[in-house]
Amino acid sequence: MSENIILETQNVRREFGALVAVDDVSIQVQAHTFHSIIGPNGAGKTTLFNLLSGNLPVTGGKIYFKGQDITRLPVHHTAHLGIGRSFQITNIFPNLTVLENIRLAAQALGKDNFRFFNAASKFPVYEERAWEVIEQVGLTDQALLPARTLPHGGQRKLELGMLLAPDPEVLLLDEPTAGMASEQVPELIALIESIQEVGGKTVMLVEHNMNVVMSVSDRITVMHWGSVLAEGAPDEITSNEVVQQAYLGQLYEIGGKKDS
Ligand SMILES: Nc1ncnc2c1ncn2[C@@H]1O[C@H](COP(=O)(O)OP(=O)(O)O)[C@@H](O)[C@H]1O
Ligand SMILES: [Mg+2]
Repeated sequence: MSENIILETQNVRREFGALVAVDDVSIQVQAHTFHSIIGPNGAGKTTLFNLLSGNLPVTGGKIYFKGQDITRLPVHHTAHLGIGRSFQITNIFPNLTVLENIRLAAQALGKDNFRFFNAASKFPVYEERAWEVIEQVGLTDQALLPARTLPHGGQRKLELGMLLAPDPEVLLLDEPTAGMASEQVPELIALIESIQEVGGKTVMLVEHNMNVVMSVSDRITVMHWGSVLAEGAPDEITSNEVVQQAYLGQLYEIGGKKDS
């Protein structure tokens, strides 16, 4: 296995009864890149993320993180290793401040290098980490406000901050722009790009907005009915006839509908 591959699946499979939601998927994700998974609704993208993060067990195949077999590891374990998973639902405590939410997220997955601190002396470490993240996601002015008072765009930044707080190496972002007003999308995407570049993170992204996907991705895997239909750089995917027929053609026809 190449040492630049941070995450790899080998014939990963997930069945729900008779339905094969993820059907022998083999992908290799290069470290420090932006790797998107696209495909129509029901293609198996969210299920694949659930398998990678250990939210769901596989029914076949293997998953490796930095060469380590993580196939059977549950979510808290993959999170400790450095795989951060975002959700389409929110996990924010509405009555706690932005700072408290982010500090708790940092604390919940205290990094190994904080291990030598005792419980009480750890608090300032997490508080400091929280402020760092708050600045990174652009919420400094709102840090002491209850999370519920943030506008929708601000809550998305907060979710991103909570994901970043424990400093994961890989970020799995499942439709981070879903439900956002289209004029707010570029700011969030720019933020995700800067997090990836500045932090040297590996980002896996599921996203329906094709303009976003084509502009940010280093590599794209196209899924269809649980299987990998194609994989390549954005220009290879755009010009791939099979992908055009199965997916992109329809998407561009209904242009813009998905990003509203
Ligand atoms: N927990 C579940 N139980 C049964 N079927 C599921 C479950 N989760 C997903 N599926 C099915 O698996 C298929 C893939 O779903 P999903 O991974 O959510 O697709 P995508 O994220 O690409 O839209 C769909 O047919 C979906 O209905
Ligand atoms: Mg999904």
